[in-house]
Amino acid sequence: MVFSKSFYTYLTIISLLFNLFHFSYIEAQNDGFTVNLIRKRPNNIITNGVQAPTKAYLGQYLMELYIGTPPIKILAEVDTGSDLVWVQCVPCPGCYEQMNPMFDPLKSSTYNNISCDSPLCQHLYSHGCSPENICNYNYGYADNSVTNGLLAQETITLTSNTGKSVGVPKILFGCGHNDTGNFNDHEMGIIGLGNGPMSLISQLGPLSGGKKFSQCLVPFHTDISISSKMSFGKGSEVLGVDVVTTPLVSTEQDIQYRVTLLGISVEETFLPFDTNIAKGNIMIDSGTPPTYLPQALYDRVATEVRNRVSLKPISDDPSIGDQLCYRTQNNLNGPTLTFHFEGANVTLTPVQIFIPPKDGVFCLALAKNSGNDPSIYGNFAQSNYLIGFDLEKQVVSFKPTDCTKH
Ligand SMILES: *[C@@H]1O[C@H](CO)[C@@H](O)[C@H](O)[C@H]1NC(C)=O
Ligand SMILES: *[C@@H]1O[C@H](CO)[C@@H](O)[C@H](O)[C@H]1NC(C)=O
Ligand SMILES: *[C@@H]1O[C@H](CO)[C@@H](O)[C@H](O)[C@H]1NC(C)=O
Repeated sequence: MVFSKSFYTYLTIISLLFNLFHFSYIEAQNDGFTVNLIRKRPNNIITNGVQAPTKAYLGQYLMELYIGTPPIKILAEVDTGSDLVWVQCVPCPGCYEQMNPMFDPLKSSTYNNISCDSPLCQHLYSHGCSPENICNYNYGYADNSVTNGLLAQETITLTSNTGKSVGVPKILFGCGHNDTGNFNDHEMGIIGLGNGPMSLISQLGPLSGGKKFSQCLVPFHTDISISSKMSFGKGSEVLGVDVVTTPLVSTEQDIQYRVTLLGISVEETFLPFDTNIAKGNIMIDSGTPPTYLPQALYDRVATEVRNRVSLKPISDDPSIGDQLCYRTQNNLNGPTLTFHFEGANVTLTPVQIFIPPKDGVFCLALAKNSGNDPSIYGNFAQSNYLIGFDLEKQVVSFKPTDCTKH
């Protein structure tokens, strides 16, 4: 069971002209590259917010890549909280509807099934064997979404922001033939960017000069024509005097990127995470929009924020449930929040703290965990920082950056 699925973050790599692919692609050769990412904003991001704060922030973010030979365009959710890359494939008796045509493995000359005997099949938590001894996978997410299909290998092609196509052969992926759950018809699968062996990062690492990547996400209410960026491998390091770094405490078995949060300051007021700070008490997940905190900490942070905002919180709009929201045309003149990660203080300003789920309303982009759910540092809080994940040095680095100009 994988905890998180980022059905909220669409990181859409800028569209390329198809004719780039009439020429043979350049294979990644121990060199890094950067891709542009575009955000898509849904028309209405409040769905039925009352019981489900995440849904109230629903935004959809896709990454574009090409798969197969000839290459087929795929738009898929990016998710640092899971590690399988998968797309819907025909025949698909149990698929959800999607707008674009599905990938057909029989029409690609570079598609390969994986044998059940292959060690690659053993990477999967849950696998089976078809009568033909082909590896079947079954992959589930915390929201009960599930994908089932065949484990396979294909060539994928990404386009760097210099216009160069980067083709990578033999990427292990799931060809989903039975996928159900929380998906919409724009998305054709999920790109797992987590810490596990199957993730795109782990697979690209040896070809791109290292298992590392960085991202610079533009804030939620940025004009959608402005792209975010993601860099892979060599050159993705986050450098400079204002960089702060915290240890990644994920073990080899951990799919998620876990770090240690000591506490949060609202302006000068320090609020400890807990009476006992466990190592790796929060995961950094590009797939989850709000930041999820233990209930007691959330309540203390919200109270401190409320005390420092001169406006009256909204109390008469059922669509926002119990979230802390204010009516204002422009973002709030609110307090800063500092996340005190082990060795790294990360300060957020209102543009990273409050998001407008609808016109004229700004809400605190934090939510409380239910039960024993893990804490999550979500993508709203990640915006306007260049954040580097170095799986070899086992660190996460943060550098304050205007991602709209980066
Ligand atoms: C798809 O998978 C679900 C379980 O995830 C199963 O109940 C269903 O029978 C499957 N459908 C097909 C067509 O294989
Ligand atoms: C992959 O395996 C499936 C299931 O056994 C089979 O139907 C399909 O033809 C195979 N594809 C290729 C390209 O071998
Ligand atoms: C982070 O902030 C705390 C509280 O303000 C301070 O005591 C600490 O020295 C800072 N740590 C770093 C690494 O800057």
